[in-house]
Amino acid sequence: MKRKIDVTDYANDIIKAMCPGILLTTKAGDQVNSMVIGWGTLGRVWEKPVFIAYVRDRRYTREMLDRNPEFTVNVPLGAFDKHAFSVCGTKSGRDMDKIAAAGFTLEEPEIISVPGIREFPLTLECRLLYREEQTSARLGADIRKKFYSVETDDHICFYGEIVEAYIIEDEKG
Ligand SMILES: Cc1cc2nc3c(=O)[nH]c(=O)nc-3n(C[C@H](O)[C@H](O)[C@H](O)COP(=O)(O)O)c2cc1C
Repeated sequence: MKRKIDVTDYANDIIKAMCPGILLTTKAGDQVNSMVIGWGTLGRVWEKPVFIAYVRDRRYTREMLDRNPEFTVNVPLGAFDKHAFSVCGTKSGRDMDKIAAAGFTLEEPEIISVPGIREFPLTLECRLLYREEQTSARLGADIRKKFYSVETDDHICFYGEIVEAYIIEDEKG
């Protein structure tokens, strides 16, 4: 069962959960893939509710988003499986089926084509509005050194319109 929510009522929960991390899930063809994100912006742009994700160019997730410009944001409520989280934050969907390895149960979406994840129940269904490539060369030296000297690829901002928001709950009774 999905309980519809007003995303602004959960803004604090979503933003606080980004540290340690939440999930961004994509689907292209038959493949579903989730990666951990620690960066994200929840807000309002072009009079629409948006979630902006910051995905490095070399991520498989970036390729998936370019193939199908929709994603879900999946936020844990309470305890979650650390092993599953670690799989999604360290392994690539290029090499393996992370959904199977993490033992996730996929939940049929309401509006877009990308499913939610029962184990990370607060769900935002997002449809891409805009894609913007960052230029790390324009950043200050301290940030460049910290974020772009080991992994050298820049981030791409994916602005997703939040078209549906809900919490996946167990059926009662
Ligand atoms: C706590 C944490 C936060 C992360 N945040 C981001 C992020 O905001 N953007 C990003 O591009 N990668 C981020 N990563 C790295 C990706 O999750 C990781 O590279 C993942 O394996 C990419 O999966 P993919 O190749 O299937 O897309 C984060 C990793 C961790 C552990």
